[in-house]
Parts: sequence; structure tokens; C-alpha cells
Amino acid sequence: MTTTIETGPTRDEIQAHRGASAVAPENTIAAFRAAAEQGARWVELDVALLADGTLVVIHDDSVDRTTSGSGSLGALGLADVAALDAGSWFDGKFAGERLPTLAETIRALGEFGLSANVEIKQHRHHKSLDQLVRAVQADIRTRAPQTRIMISSFDPEALKAMRRLEPELEIALLYERPPEDWEAQLAAIPATTLHVHYKALCIGFLEETARRGIKVRAWTCNDPADLASFWRAGLTGVITDNPAIFLDRL
Ligand code: G3P
Ligand code: CA
Repeated sequence: MTTTIETGPTRDEIQAHRGASAVAPENTIAAFRAAAEQGARWVELDVALLADGTLVVIHDDSVDRTTSGSGSLGALGLADVAALDAGSWFDGKFAGERLPTLAETIRALGEFGLSANVEIKQHRHHKSLDQLVRAVQADIRTRAPQTRIMISSFDPEALKAMRRLEPELEIALLYERPPEDWEAQLAAIPATTLHVHYKALCIGFLEETARRGIKVRAWTCNDPADLASFWRAGLTGVITDNPAIFLDRL
């Protein structure tokens, strides 16, 4: 009889994707609270600028899908989004949940004892990369001492700019599927972490990245069985809508 010895991520390597977005509306304070209640230590969240320069926590470039309102972020200011309901679309019990600013989210994370992977979204309405990264810097600098921050993005230029502003932070380059020149792209930032779609992972790639001292986290995986063969090959962590399914196995 053969026995499979399972390995998996540590608690510090399980990130709640857009908060615990399987059980609460994504990228809201309710989703971050739910992640903390499940026992997560990290959340992943998306940030983008409104027309007035306020950084908000939202995945899309418009409020249409995840709030009661409509319109592009580039045509809305904080006063426009303040009254929107960002919870009812998910479940009526979240009615009244607001679209949070990054500043208020950072405060809430301190209260919940959470750390954050801040994904910088690059949208067409963003006029200035410098404005975007400086706004991120200003907000993350208000974090509580116990709140750890890392930065991720699909945009290497945003990551290079953040590296210059905040040299000590962990920075992760995001890929749906790593291209041939992933190592050169990472070195140009410079960074040593990749976040890769879990379906693009294979054991050979993970053994290679592990040999080169590169961390790799898988997104967005909601079934531990999909990653079972990857931990021994060197997978570092997971980004999941439902951290409980990984946390329950610790
Ligand atoms: O952090 C990885 C993942 O969040 C990237 O995809 O579309 O969910 O922001 P998306
Ligand atoms: Ca994201």
C-alpha cells in the first residue's frame, strides 16, 4: 500500500483573494473581515484611481459589476462612489457595504490583524504612473506596525516604480502564464517573486524557480487538490477566494 504524504502552504502563505470573496462581496471591508474570521493572515486586494485621485479598492475599471451604481472610475470621484452599495449584488445580507478607499482599508486591516498583497491595476483612465504609485505609497505608509504589505501587478513598469519608492517591500510580478523571458522581466524590476495562474504551473517550472531562489504563488485556486503535487516541487503559496479550505488543513 502506498501512502501520499500531503504538504501545503503555511498560514502565512495563504492569501484571501479580494478578501474571502467566496463568502462576502469582493474587495470590501466585509470580505477582509471574513478572511480574518477564517483565520487568514493575508488578503489580496486590487487598487485603482478615481478621477479625483482617490485610490479605491476595486477590481474592474468601472463600478458596474460590484456596486449599485454605474460608470467608469475615470468619470467618478469619491463623492460619487461614497453612497454606492457594494454588497447587495453579492447577497442582500451585505446591503450597505461600501466601496472602500485604500486608506480606510489599510486602517481596517490593522484592526483585523491582517497583512495585504496590494495589486496595482493599470487601467486606461490612469493618466500618470507616477501619480498612481505615489498614491499607493502614501496610503500604505499609514499602515499599523503589524500590517505587512507586499505589492503585485501585471504591469512591470508599476512594479519598477514601486521598487524605487519602497525598496524594502516584497514585489511580485503577475502572469497568467510566464513568458520565455520571465527571468529577465523579473530581474529588471528587480524582484524575486512570481504570482502565476495555477493552471499554468507545472512541476518542472517550480523546480527551476526553486533552484533559482524565486518564490512562486498560485492564483486563484479554490481546490487544494489542484496544487497537491506542487508543494514538494517548490510552490510557495496560494491566493484563494476561500482561505478556509486551505486553513482547515493546517
Ligand atoms: O493576485 C492574482 C489575481 O488577483 C490576479 O487576477 O483578475 O483576480 O486581479 P485578478
Ligand atoms: Ca487581483
